[in-house]
Amino acid sequence: MYKKLIGRDFIAEQEWSTAELKVALDLAVQLKKKFRLKQPTPYLLHQTLYLLFFFSSTRTRTSFEAAMDQLGGNSHDLTPDKLQIAHGDTPKEIGKILSSYGHGIAIRHCDWGEGNSYIREVAKYSTAPVFNMQCDIYHPFQAMADLMTILEKKKTVKKKKIVMSWAFASSYTKPISVPQSFLLLLTKFGADITLAYPKEFMLMPGIMKTARENAEKTGGSVHITHSMEDAFRDADVVYPKSWGPLVTTSDPSVCTRIAAKYKSWICDEKKMQLARKDAIYMHCLPADRGIEVADAVIDGKQSVVYDQAENRMHVQKAILALTMGAKK
Ligand code: CP
Repeated sequence: MYKKLIGRDFIAEQEWSTAELKVALDLAVQLKKKFRLKQPTPYLLHQTLYLLFFFSSTRTRTSFEAAMDQLGGNSHDLTPDKLQIAHGDTPKEIGKILSSYGHGIAIRHCDWGEGNSYIREVAKYSTAPVFNMQCDIYHPFQAMADLMTILEKKKTVKKKKIVMSWAFASSYTKPISVPQSFLLLLTKFGADITLAYPKEFMLMPGIMKTARENAEKTGGSVHITHSMEDAFRDADVVYPKSWGPLVTTSDPSVCTRIAAKYKSWICDEKKMQLARKDAIYMHCLPADRGIEVADAVIDGKQSVVYDQAENRMHVQKAILALTMGAKK
């Protein structure tokens, strides 16, 4: 299993089997223990990972850099303006050239209708594995950290009410990749997911179809509601976050106008009281405090947002350690 993963891209969680994803999660747990004990983990000695960001990042950037340091390798933080992308370097050049110098290429490109295609085009020409640090469709490392966090707090995802809910935010139109990857990954592990959103905020039809097929195979389920309150009632896990109505429209001003109709979709203490007493509150961050979530909730006892952020590094270390090396 370990050898089978060398050279594999990690672009969408759906492309790895549940058994392969479990191997990565188990390794992430071991690496987290070693990190706590300050034990060395030199699994990628002198290996190089290129990090290419078309979009800003706090957690992804710093956790990938720390991951490579702790695995004994090195990383290079790149943005399009540092490269010759505007002057003609295509995804083919990026894939062929960076993989001839190093051992992995990680890319964040969230532009709607472009990000995933760009990453796949780089992967087509790269001789090293390519990692999706978030695109317009998927955020697979976030979903893995989220699953790891739920397993730490709840031991299992089975027979729990797990809620992914839309929430209002005003900072910018957030990608739909977090709810989509969460839905795909959790249904691969047999979870019962309740998806809550105002009608304009549906996810991509193809993602919904795959999630339902996953659930059918694993004994999980996918329920949809258009009421945040209904979703929160008796929930074990709530993950209320904003995303854009991008399947309905990608016009930025229309997105803002639609979202403004649903300002009441905030995760506050009143809504948290509808959930089970031991329910956990999740958010991938950054969050719009006071708009998307009340301070009392995100800073409260039920919040696991810092566990999620920390687990990003552990799952990334696991997947990098399992995959980096030449493609077959
Ligand atoms: N959750 C997440 O991906 O955070 P950043 O956008 O800061 O990387």
